[in-house]
Amino acid sequence: MRYLPLFADLAGRRCLVIGGTETAARKIRLLLKAGAIPLVLADTVTEEIAAAADRQELLIENRRFTPMDLTDVSLVVVANASESESEAQISETAIDEAEAKAISIAARRAGIPVNVVDRPDLCSVIFPGIIDRDPILVAVASAGNSPVLVRRLREKIEAALPSRIGRLASFAGRFRSAVARAVTAPSARRAFWERVLDGPIGSRVLRGDEPAATEAMLRLINAPHPSAPPLGNVALVGAGPGDPDLLTLRALRLLQEADVVVHDALIGDGVLDLVRRDAARIDVGKRKGDHRSSQAEINQLLADQAKAGQRVVRLKGGDPFLFGRGGEEMDFLRAHGIDVEVVPGITAALGAAAASGIPLTHRHHASAVTFITGHGGSEGADSLDDTLLGNANHTVAVYMGLSVAGQVAARAIAAGRAGSTPVAVIDRATHTDQQVLHGTLSDLGALVERAALTGPALLIIGEVAAVAGLMPVAAPLRRAAG
Ligand SMILES: C[S@@+](CC[C@H](N)C(=O)[O-])C[C@H]1O[C@@H](n2cnc3c(N)ncnc32)[C@H](O)[C@@H]1O
Repeated sequence: MRYLPLFADLAGRRCLVIGGTETAARKIRLLLKAGAIPLVLADTVTEEIAAAADRQELLIENRRFTPMDLTDVSLVVVANASESESEAQISETAIDEAEAKAISIAARRAGIPVNVVDRPDLCSVIFPGIIDRDPILVAVASAGNSPVLVRRLREKIEAALPSRIGRLASFAGRFRSAVARAVTAPSARRAFWERVLDGPIGSRVLRGDEPAATEAMLRLINAPHPSAPPLGNVALVGAGPGDPDLLTLRALRLLQEADVVVHDALIGDGVLDLVRRDAARIDVGKRKGDHRSSQAEINQLLADQAKAGQRVVRLKGGDPFLFGRGGEEMDFLRAHGIDVEVVPGITAALGAAAASGIPLTHRHHASAVTFITGHGGSEGADSLDDTLLGNANHTVAVYMGLSVAGQVAARAIAAGRAGSTPVAVIDRATHTDQQVLHGTLSDLGALVERAALTGPALLIIGEVAAVAGLMPVAAPLRRAAG
């Protein structure tokens, strides 16, 4: 290990910055965040540095460095090496190689940490890539070897860390001494904290419900004999239309933390591949005519697993609250006192629209869009509202409409929609075998029959269906003739 990572407390400390370039401004931004008081030696500074001086957050002096400047300084940053030609031109007092070296040597002799931008050989300390979820800080460094790789790694860690992880750390900090008093044995206390952070209380903080988390925490601590809290909870997670890249970051994190994943048949292998390897997977997929688990059985299964202390992810195609019976599952679980988190997903209509290049609304063709089901089977028994179906200048996205496509079209025409209205059928949207069929409303039933699609498929009725093809298409697709 070439460098020892340490976190410096610079609050209220003087730091010397030599240079007023964009590079210097980036370092100064960090110093100010850490509460330091920078003294900037430069003849020209960026607007950002000047504005900070106006706010009296730092001092600017237009002169060269002298060893006296090191008095009472906690860090020296030499940042007038310019990263761009234009920056180099505006700085008249740009220091040369020999001067940078002299400053580095003087600082080291005085025992002051020094960083010379882009000169690892002149540095006693380096600035790492930082992921700042205050008070959680993650620092990444390559010992100066590859700043680009550091940036890549930082992006990956940023994506993997929950955005409210800092709030969770602060939350734990607030209760630290109270827990230490209530749970005295160190091993029991560690188990207690693991359960708090991994269980429903931690989930509540991460999804922004701190009042509920605080209430639960106080109940636990004030119990006569506080012990490790129960772990079990259920997350109703939207898996999106199929392409695993369309999962939300939170969905991905929960899949990687889950003990049990209960999923339905629409979930593709690409998404299931992201589930934690040793998590149990339970397929409760319901295909038409092959009801493997009733809704009541699924509800009970989720409740039983959570009560047994498992972190359960109920993975549902698209969005859990759109024609997915997610509402019923949530009600059942909450009625049984189980903590439920809901993570939205990209619903099939949005996935299908993007992947086929069909805008659901369009300034010239549709000012509204309605999502309906062709079947009453899931939710919305009679969602074939004739007024909606007949409305021109309006897009209708039909879920579960494959087997009733002809009937839906007939009702739309009877309600006043022109038989020549463009339609599209998007089969297995965002999957690699996606198909998009185009036709007209009067032809919809025959179009679907001829194609003998496997589904799941979405019907789009409205002028926008003819806009496809003019639009850039997000997913690779095989376009069948309509
Ligand atoms: C029970 S609903 C579930 C909808 C889901 N909750 C959502 O938000 O997309 C199932 C219907 O969604 C549509 N669907 C789901 N995934 C699809 C996909 N990849 N391509 C086209 N349609 C899809 C089909 O109409 C299918 O019959």
